[in-house]
This record gives sequence, structure tokens and C-alpha cells, in this order.
Amino acid sequence: MQSIHRLDHLRNVVAQWRVAEETIALVPTMGALHEGHLTLVRAAREKADRVAVSIFVNPTQFGPNEDLDAYPRTLEADSRLLDAEGVDALWAPDAATMYPDGFSTSIAVDGVSGDFCGRSRPGHFAGVATVVCKLFNQVQPDLALFGEKDWQQLAVIRTMARDLDLARPAVDAILGVPTVREADGLAMSSRNVRLTPEDRDAAVVLARALDRGEALLRAGAAEPEPVLAAMREIIAAEPRADLASLDIRDAATLDAVTVIDERPVVILVTARFGDVLLIDQRVAEKAHGSATGGKAA
Ligand code: PAJ
Repeated sequence: MQSIHRLDHLRNVVAQWRVAEETIALVPTMGALHEGHLTLVRAAREKADRVAVSIFVNPTQFGPNEDLDAYPRTLEADSRLLDAEGVDALWAPDAATMYPDGFSTSIAVDGVSGDFCGRSRPGHFAGVATVVCKLFNQVQPDLALFGEKDWQQLAVIRTMARDLDLARPAVDAILGVPTVREADGLAMSSRNVRLTPEDRDAAVVLARALDRGEALLRAGAAEPEPVLAAMREIIAAEPRADLASLDIRDAATLDAVTVIDERPVVILVTARFGDVLLIDQRVAEKAHGSATGGKAA
């Protein structure tokens, strides 16, 4: 695996792959890699000739009171993991390479960026959209892979790619990968290592609440509110969980839904455990033939 820290070096490597007519997949990350990230890498390996993984802890997506300084940085261990997975290139730029003096552009994706996680993290998705657009332009991948744990992020990036007519990757080549979970159901996250043992155990409440919400939706719930109420009750029973946001939205547009029909919805939950903000999101749709019916797409 080549470890690349300079943009001209990256461009040379990518140009060689292009000359050889090899397809390229990009997996953007902020490092502190775990099985969730590695699952994206394996999916990328299956779909493209070359796999590039970026590691960049992006300052513009952290709010002033968020955990930028505390974010785990484990580049050496990450590099070994990626090498063992057969990754071709690790793109690890520094902040001055990504945001040189005078940097003044920001991509705001209205609508899908609002509310939910946006509510507890103002400006977050503009930071994400901007850095991901840069990574796309730097690597010019044929496809890019993102985790469905961060469903809203995936929707923001797809909307950005569509609205800005991105060609590499095209919007259809921005792929979601199902969430990888710990044995008890907690979504794997780089932030989990910062949880105290007590909060780590308590954090499983988010997955339990999502299980319940998904079950109610599959069983044919007609409106969001009773589903949200059942989920709130589960989370409220865990005193260590400080619920920041809980919503059910249209899975594609993130628009509010008042009636749940056959279109998939996404349940989005954000909660603090101590000073660690955890996110979990799950797409759900009515089981075909459930009480109120749901017709095949
Ligand atoms: P990061 O949190 O490092 O996540 C990188 C990718 O891994 C994201 O697409 C995320 O959804 C995915 N991922 C994280 N945990 C996962 C899990 N348990 N199962 C499956 N996939 C998982 O998300 C970011 O970084 C940044 O916002 C980034 C897109 C890199 C822009 O800075």
C-alpha cells in the first residue's frame, strides 16, 4: 500500500491507474478504524480494481464545543489494518493541504442537512459536503462507499453530487453499506472508545430503541408519533442517555412525514453519553402485506 500525503503524489498515482484503465473506489474516513470501516473497504475491494482510503480528521465538520481535539488519531495502526486489507493507497493529507491559507469555499446542502443531527451540530454537514467534494475531486473515483449508520450524511452527499453534476463518482455510484454492530447491537463508531464502561453499556439503548421503532414500522404503524413515543420511553428509561434528537423522516429526501406509506423512512437518533455524541440511523419500511398493507416497489 502506498501512503500518500501530498496532492501531486496522489494525482500521479491516480493518473497511472487511469492509464491502465483500472476502476477506482474511494472510502472516505476520519481514521480510528474499526470493523465498520473495514466492511466498507471490503465492499470497495469487491467492486473496483483499485481501492483508495482517505484518513482526514476534518476540522470544518466539528462545532466549537465538539470533540476535534479528543478525536482519536491512530494513523499507524490504521495504516497496518488497511495494508492487511489489500488497500492500494492511503490518502492522508494534513490540514494545510486540505485547507490552505485563503480557503474560502463552503458547500451548503439545504433541506437534507437540516434538523436532526444538524440541530445538535450546526454547520456540520456543510463541513462534510465540502470535504467530501474535495476528496472526490482529488481521487476522482468511479465509486465511493459510505455507511448507512450515517444515513443523513449519505443523503447529503448524494444530493450534493446530483445538484453539482459530479461525474466522478456519479450519484448512482455513491453506495451505502449496512451498519456493522457490536455483539449487543451498539453501532460501531470511532467515538465508542471515549465512552466510560458504564456509558458503553448504557449506549446499547439506542440500538434497542431502533429495534423497537423498526418493528413498529414494519408491523404497519400509520404515523410517526406513536413510534417515536415508544422509542422515547425506551431511551428515557436509561438515565445515562441524554437524548439530543429523535426523528422519522423520508429516507430519500429527509422531509418530514405525517403519514407512513410504502415509501421507506429513516429513523434518526442522536444522544449524548457523558460528553460523547452518538448517532444511529436505520432505514425501515412496512413489511409487504402488513396490517395496513404496503405495496411492492
Ligand atoms: P467516519 O466517522 O470515520 O466514517 C467513515 C465511514 O465509515 C462513513 O461512511 C461512516 O458512515 C462509515 N461507518 C462508520 N461506522 C460504521 C459502522 N458501524 N458500520 C458501517 N459503516 C460505518 O463519516 C465520516 O468519517 C466523515 O464524516 C467523512 C465522510 C469521512 C467526511 O469527513
